[in-house]
Amino acid sequence: MHSKKVYLAASLLKEKNVIAIPTETVYGLAAGIFYPEAIEKIFMLKKRPQDNPLIAHISNFDQVHEIARDIPGEFWTLAKKFFPGPLTLVVKKHPNVPLIATGGQDSIAIRMPNHPIALEIIENFNMPIVAPSANLSGRPSPTSEAHVKEDFGDKIPLIVDGGQCSIGIESTVVSLVGENPQILRPGTITAREIESALQTSLQTTLSHEVLSPGMKYQHYAPKTPLMIFENLEEIRQYVERNKDERFWVLTIESLGVSNEKLLSEKTLYSLFRESEKTVDKILIYLCPKMRKKKGLLNRLLKASSV
Ligand code: TXA
Ligand code: MG
Repeated sequence: MHSKKVYLAASLLKEKNVIAIPTETVYGLAAGIFYPEAIEKIFMLKKRPQDNPLIAHISNFDQVHEIARDIPGEFWTLAKKFFPGPLTLVVKKHPNVPLIATGGQDSIAIRMPNHPIALEIIENFNMPIVAPSANLSGRPSPTSEAHVKEDFGDKIPLIVDGGQCSIGIESTVVSLVGENPQILRPGTITAREIESALQTSLQTTLSHEVLSPGMKYQHYAPKTPLMIFENLEEIRQYVERNKDERFWVLTIESLGVSNEKLLSEKTLYSLFRESEKTVDKILIYLCPKMRKKKGLLNRLLKASSV
């Protein structure tokens, strides 16, 4: 179905190029996992610190043995249940995988993306790829071809268009190399789902639970300053008092105030990018329901803290 596009992508990867590909979470900047020179280009393009490891993307279960060793039972339990899908599992790395791929670590993060084009490209290339999100370091992750163009335009030979990403935030990352399984990055697959699949409790460490009441303010991703409100009356009053300012109110349920935009995992990053061209400020209403959306909450707090 996508054969021409897939063939072109796979041949560029074989020639050790870096290309952008769609996944169900966000777009990725891809290179062959056994091509250290190509992986180095990814770090240069993204301006990413060399010690920040990349995620290996596979299209079939056999490839796990090419890139990992001493694979624990939990890996297969979770992989059978959630692959392909927005879950990344960290296990011990195979010695054949170049250290540049894992930021010098002896572990490797693995996921199987749930996007037909991504799967076909990896299958056709016949090698796992590494693929960080296809944004410049510090920018919001890309959820459309246009977003990748903004950050890399003519710097890469191909951006494969796979439409808007259906999930919109990055995968849940779970480490299986410690004493107990542990969530390193929350996403749309929840701790509860992981625990019920494994029939065990996860190690808990995440600090994003601790949120001081009131507002947070900052410029990071996006460039638009962000204010977080936990109190409904406070945000209503702010909107009322500052009618002349150009702002958006991002909320997961309507407040009936002006300039509000419905927020979800799927719309978060495009709203962030669009806001930079449209408004001077983003107000976020962090309602009690949003506390359950750990992935979304994590991204909002990251974007609003220094
Ligand atoms: O949804 C996703 O995971 C997207 C799409 C493109 O697949 N990729 C993505 O990659 O978000 P990136 O590079 O933007 O984020 C990878 C995250 C980082 O937080 C990194 O530190 C962590 O995964 N990670 C990768 N390998 C690791 C390892 N061996 N141990 C611990 N953390 C690791
Ligand atoms: Mg990223």
